[in-house]
Amino acid sequence: MAKKLYIKTYGCQMNVYDSERMADILSPLGYELTSSPEEADLAILNTCHIREKAEQKMYSDLGRLKDHRKNQDGKKEPMIIAVGGCVAQAEGAEIMRQAPFVDMVFGPQTYHRLPEMIARATRAADKKTGKGRGVVETDFPMESKFDALPQTEISRAAAFLTVQEGCDKFCSYCVVPYTRGAEFSRPVREILEEARHLVQLGTKEITLLGQNVNAYHGEALNGSGEWGLGRLARELGEIQGLERIRYITSHPSDMTEELIEAHRDVPQLMPYLHLPIQAGSNRVLEAMNRKHTRESYLAIMERLREARPDIALASDFIVGFPGETDAEFRETLDIVEKVRYAQAYSFKYSIRPGTPAGVMENQVPEAVKAERLQELQALLNQHQHEFNTQTINKTVRVLLERKGRLEGQLMGRSPYMQSVAVFAPERLLGQIVDVEIKEAHPNSIAGTILTTEIASAA
Ligand code: SAH
Ligand code: SF4
Ligand code: F3S
Repeated sequence: MAKKLYIKTYGCQMNVYDSERMADILSPLGYELTSSPEEADLAILNTCHIREKAEQKMYSDLGRLKDHRKNQDGKKEPMIIAVGGCVAQAEGAEIMRQAPFVDMVFGPQTYHRLPEMIARATRAADKKTGKGRGVVETDFPMESKFDALPQTEISRAAAFLTVQEGCDKFCSYCVVPYTRGAEFSRPVREILEEARHLVQLGTKEITLLGQNVNAYHGEALNGSGEWGLGRLARELGEIQGLERIRYITSHPSDMTEELIEAHRDVPQLMPYLHLPIQAGSNRVLEAMNRKHTRESYLAIMERLREARPDIALASDFIVGFPGETDAEFRETLDIVEKVRYAQAYSFKYSIRPGTPAGVMENQVPEAVKAERLQELQALLNQHQHEFNTQTINKTVRVLLERKGRLEGQLMGRSPYMQSVAVFAPERLLGQIVDVEIKEAHPNSIAGTILTTEIASAA
């Protein structure tokens, strides 16, 4: 009988990609995905360590899994409870001290060893109680997990493809360099193979992923030298049937001329760029160890707009970094006014163990952080709404990805990453259609599908 696999994913898109690869690896062992944790034979929490909240969430979810396992009484082998991802990497065996019922802990670079870990855990265990399973794998292995990944059979209109992992930037607030390890890039050949396979499965849009995706420098196609992300995007643009290319997340100091020119020359490269600035004050940026200034950032924005005038811009922000004064926070608001983002993610600074900023003395009080976040988000939301309003009465190309909340409604993305709602027949799922926009909301737009498209797609 098939075994049931439950995976819950926290954090960034790279974890989403990893969770799907875990399902791919476990499928030959007879594991089938389920969305009900109570029936799972193996439950994996693929965790995120970026802010304290993400970690707390994991511990409360773990408690629930323990209860589900209790309710499975009478099962031949009790559920295996596993913690993967970035909390696993950061805390390792400590998780088993906090939650002794956890059977396996494995970091983000080791999940290709899951079959072997499961075998080890079950061999060691008392069949009836599951006692003695304890497996911890948090080293950074010499071999690449990508070498061992089978080709996916999961078909998606819009798919993720990890091209780069890890980070050498060491921003003073951030755990990623510790949880994901040193920066590395997959070879171009491997990426093209995976992209072609996805397109064969029906994928129309690929988002290239990396913690520092524009630092990509993978082995060139002919094996000599390295290619950057701009060159890779050009090559992907040659794949028949691949209609959209995106990439996240970029760092300002890796925004090369080659990549900016790709935005001018590669029509499949979507006019959207997520380029986090984090803060608007140069003093704060330096304390964050960001390696860019507000001026160098604004200069990149200008060059991008020259290369691709309709490009939509997005960013991440941290408010209340240690020592941030009110005047420095105003400089963040000023940057927002200057750039006018189409989309943004903003966070209160969260102390992370083991990072330099975590031990800085001048921590900003919680109430001040909350106030600043509210003010920033009000401005960002206003701009986002304005950006959405500009698309009213325009026709935008939309890749229809999933069903909406309402009967007969489908949801998709515009080239600018806006979420678009439209009433359309279900058979158009996975297709790119023209939609005339009629309504703009802060977080989405809605419109009517142009009839000619229905006729031509029928
Ligand atoms: N690699 C990407 C982002 C990684 S984390 C980059 O360099 O831009 C995603 C976002 O989480 C960051 O951009 C930052 O805004 C936020 N973040 C990271 N560490 C944080 C912390 N300690 N507290 C609050 N927000 C944080
Ligand atoms: Fe974290 Fe900075 Fe690396 Fe982004 S660039 S992952 S924020 S250390
Ligand atoms: Fe979180 Fe790890 Fe991604 S810390 S944001 S899951 S790289």
